[in-house]
Amino acid sequence: MADRPYTLLSCGMSIDGYLDSAGAARLRLSNAADFERVDAERARCDAILVGAATVRNDNPRLLIRSALRRAEREARGLPPSPVKVTLTRRGDLPATAAFFTTGSADKLVYCPARAAERIRARLGAAATVVDTGPGDDVDVAAIAEDLSARGVDRLMVEGGGTVLTQFLTAALADELHLVVAPLFVGDSRAPRLAGDGPFPWNAERRAPLAGVRQIGDVVLLRYALSERFCAEAGGV
Ligand SMILES: NC(=O)c1ccc[n+]([C@@H]2O[C@H](COP(=O)([O-])OP(=O)(O)OC[C@H]3O[C@@H](n4cnc5c(N)ncnc54)[C@H](OP(=O)(O)O)[C@@H]3O)[C@@H](O)[C@H]2O)c1
Repeated sequence: MADRPYTLLSCGMSIDGYLDSAGAARLRLSNAADFERVDAERARCDAILVGAATVRNDNPRLLIRSALRRAEREARGLPPSPVKVTLTRRGDLPATAAFFTTGSADKLVYCPARAAERIRARLGAAATVVDTGPGDDVDVAAIAEDLSARGVDRLMVEGGGTVLTQFLTAALADELHLVVAPLFVGDSRAPRLAGDGPFPWNAERRAPLAGVRQIGDVVLLRYALSERFCAEAGGV
């Protein structure tokens, strides 16, 4: 198997397993102290990946907030914030999204061959569009291999659920940071942490719990999902 980056999945969910509300406004699941922890985790990564729906719905900047962490990265010869990565079939991504307009690091958009030219025309110089070949879907394993070839050694996947599901079912995750927020969404139209699929972690093979930490009113669960799991590297 080709090299792939060490891959950390990171997300927050409600007690009833939702990543967001069903409404248009983004649901705030975490708290200030946990956002600070996530900022530190992001700063340790070479690239951050989110699905196209997250780019559209949340309009995230995906930048390192802390000036100190940005300066530390630059002192190591890195861009102040990690490379941003997304994947799409439809390519319905506005070049004006904060994903594209903020930060100096590369922005990579992975898409199937049949959509690549259209998406390139739409995004122009805002991003590098990477054609992943035939078929309707992008294979997340191909993304991981391509990112590795581009020098990405540590990848953070922040969701949403569609993307997290694919990294989990393809056994491409080395660890999971799951924050549980003290609230219920109670609306099955809302996006869930994970969809259907053959997860490597199930009733016969339980995921090793590597750490638990209370952060104010949320709890962080850290799971070790591969033999590459590095206990020292995380903050739990
Ligand atoms: N709580 C958290 O930590 C957290 C983190 C991130 C996001 N979220 C929430 O999650 C929700 C979005 O999650 P989601 O599951 O609906 O969407 P998502 O995972 O963010 O994005 C799904 C989209 O990504 C593209 N995509 C996914 N797999 C693909 C593949 N194999 N090949 C090509 N394109 C692929 C498609 O884009 P196209 O439609 O463009 O083809 C698909 O519609 C939002 O409400 C957001 O707020 C929560």
